[in-house]
Amino acid sequence: MSEIDLVTYKVEEGIAWVYFSRPEKRNAMSPGLNRRMMEVLDELEYRDDVSVLVLGGQGSAWSAGMDLKEYFRETEAQGLRGVRKSQRESYGWFRRLRWFQKPTIAMVNGWCFGGGFGPLFACDLAICADEAQFGLSEINWGILPGGGVTKVVVDLLPMRDAMWLTLTGELIDGVQAADMRLVNESVPAAQLEERTRAVARLLLKKNPVALKFAKDAVRRVSTMTYDEAEDYLVRMQEAANFHDKTEGRKEGIRQFIDEKSYKPGLGSYDLGKVKAD
Ligand code: COA
Repeated sequence: MSEIDLVTYKVEEGIAWVYFSRPEKRNAMSPGLNRRMMEVLDELEYRDDVSVLVLGGQGSAWSAGMDLKEYFRETEAQGLRGVRKSQRESYGWFRRLRWFQKPTIAMVNGWCFGGGFGPLFACDLAICADEAQFGLSEINWGILPGGGVTKVVVDLLPMRDAMWLTLTGELIDGVQAADMRLVNESVPAAQLEERTRAVARLLLKKNPVALKFAKDAVRRVSTMTYDEAEDYLVRMQEAANFHDKTEGRKEGIRQFIDEKSYKPGLGSYDLGKVKAD
């Protein structure tokens, strides 16, 4: 299979639907898939017709994690140089996705194992099928959850849940994942795409500059003191003001105070009016 086919995507109505596309290998992340995913993120990130990115999986899996044969065994056979290269390729696109210019949604349709928690965490929001299955299988084949995965579960979950998943390798389904807050919500598989599209459409209505600064802020402030965070948020809003050439915040105030056409407490201002001017 050509590397280009390992990740597929389509762009429709402002949403880029990106898929792990190795269903016959349960979307395990091979070096080729990792390289291709980085290219796809590169292709999509600054496209004007892309405002939200959804990451799904073809077939029965979202991703069965790192490819045990191609990512671990075959790169180890190449020595440290090969190992470090494949680590850079995978961690590289996880990082790129974490700080992606547009908001991102993980749409978890099925299996999500080990290394799959990297992109799961990298996505800003996560919606899964009730039928999805999540597990840290590393302990089952004799390693610790590396590639940032231990950090991911400690950041996302209470310590007992993080420890349970890490030490037992037991599976949880989508409903349990939502209860644990590993994902935002879980819906029956038949409704997964529709629900994800509805959430993406909600984001399409928001000021895109504000979205990027807000999502980065949520990730950044967690390691700051209160005073550092307060200062960071002031500076970042000032930077956002510079980047938002539509002066969206002023328009948002105008449509509420002067035009009385919407209420910020109940929904977003009309972005279309700004573009039309
Ligand atoms: N690495 C490499 N190959 C993988 C893989 C992985 N992480 N996950 C699945 N595959 C391959 C299988 O080897 C098999 O290949 P083959 O058809 O050439 O024999 C193919 O994908 C289908 O997998 P199979 O196990 O038959 O599918 P299943 O639907 O019965 O089970 C899983 C699905 C995900 C439960 C099972 O494949 C599995 O446990 N995978 C490993 C999960 C894991 O530990 N990931 C690593 C985390 S770091």
